[in-house]
Amino acid sequence: MTSNVIVAPPLPEARGPLSAAVVSVLRDGAPASIARMDADPFGEDLQLALYTCYELHYRGFDRVDPEWEWEPGLLRLRARMERVFLDAIRTELPGGDDVGAALRRVTAEATEDTGVSAYLRDHGEWWQLREYLVHRSIYHLKEADPHAWVIPRLRGQAKASLVAVEYDEFGGGRGERMHARLFAELMRETGLDPAYGRYLDAVPAVTLATVNMMSLFGLHRALRGALVGHFAAAEISTPPGAQRLAEALERLGARPGAEVFFTEHIEADAVHEQVLRRDVVGDLLAAEPYLAADVVLGAQATAMLEERLGGRLLGAWRAGESSLRAPVLT
Ligand SMILES: [Fe+2]
Ligand SMILES: [Fe+2]
Repeated sequence: MTSNVIVAPPLPEARGPLSAAVVSVLRDGAPASIARMDADPFGEDLQLALYTCYELHYRGFDRVDPEWEWEPGLLRLRARMERVFLDAIRTELPGGDDVGAALRRVTAEATEDTGVSAYLRDHGEWWQLREYLVHRSIYHLKEADPHAWVIPRLRGQAKASLVAVEYDEFGGGRGERMHARLFAELMRETGLDPAYGRYLDAVPAVTLATVNMMSLFGLHRALRGALVGHFAAAEISTPPGAQRLAEALERLGARPGAEVFFTEHIEADAVHEQVLRRDVVGDLLAAEPYLAADVVLGAQATAMLEERLGGRLLGAWRAGESSLRAPVLT
């Protein structure tokens, strides 16, 4: 019998001086003092350190006092890492404030029949599909949580419509229909361990960056436009990818029913996309037109970080190698 008692995940293994400082402060209570902040903004060390700080706002870690969530020294360190990460994201992007063009670009890229989901549908092997799910588990086991932070920062129709989308993400009032729960079921179906945080040590920085971006945008009221732009881009790009992944599961002989997580997203996100575009982005910009550049930032950052992740996965697989940091799958 599986227990419903929640157990927080263990602290991750450090990947460098920054993440070692964060992990040791949480484990031993030693104050985190980092003099220099010269880590690669997209590298393993900074991304894991940032992820670990953010996780204190979600489920925390086993044997870590939840009060660390608001400890000023740790928040100060997190703020420095966030600045480095956000500056690096901005440097990579074309920017601008044309929201319509930014979202059209996302639509065009999503409907191109390329990328990881197309690869998995056409050539993927079972172990590659499972690796893909391991990468995605970092987000999907807390699906829609980062977006919930933005709710108090919105008003009027934008808030009402975003909450309507979140209601679906959280199962429409039914715990067993929560998207995070559907993803856990999919993991079980494919022989993976759906325990929250189970694969944190296995996934590379490029995966963590996609989730850190959501937490960064969600936790800062100043970045509410970016969170909304990210959410719109994510909903626009999901349905075509979900369709391809459902086909990949079928081709690879997954048990019928395993694809529910993806089929759910083909239908739901076609609606979510419209709601996000028209009612959330549209209403937000009508009320706060000065947020247009931030909405563009969110959409472009999503596309850029997803592309980096896709490149890592396809690069490894085409070379016949694992895309994970450690071969955790048997
Ligand atoms: Fe979802
Ligand atoms: Fe959705």
